[in-house]
Amino acid sequence: MKHEVLMICYSRTGTTLTVARLLAAMAGWQLALIEDVAPRAGWVGDVRCVWDALLKRKPPYHYIGPPPGRFDHVVLMSPIWMGRLASPMRSYLRAGSLRTSGP
Ligand SMILES: Cc1cc2nc3c(=O)[nH]c(=O)nc-3n(C[C@H](O)[C@H](O)[C@H](O)COP(=O)(O)O)c2cc1C
Repeated sequence: MKHEVLMICYSRTGTTLTVARLLAAMAGWQLALIEDVAPRAGWVGDVRCVWDALLKRKPPYHYIGPPPGRFDHVVLMSPIWMGRLASPMRSYLRAGSLRTSGP
């Protein structure tokens, strides 16, 4: 029996995305992306990351990929900010979007 796996990745500067792409390609998994709505470049972006992490903010995000509810398993890839899950991934999980199955 084949289990369909979706990997969902957030990456600010590309490190997590590089690993996610390798893993997904090796395992034959589909890859979905969470992206920032507002850019986090430079030191201003660094400060936003710190504040979003410390205050457990849920910033807006874009999800690019198929509905995760159609898959048997979901694998999450995210950086750690200030000892916490990167805020855009927190936003995604708090939105309850993992159960989305259509369209
Ligand atoms: C604001 C900020 C806070 C961070 N806090 C941590 C941390 O607490 N622990 C850790 O191991 N790495 C921490 N990092 C490092 C990132 O997790 C690491 O650079 C990661 O590879 C970045 O992934 P990305 O290139 O996919 O965005 C932090 C980075 C930033 C920008």
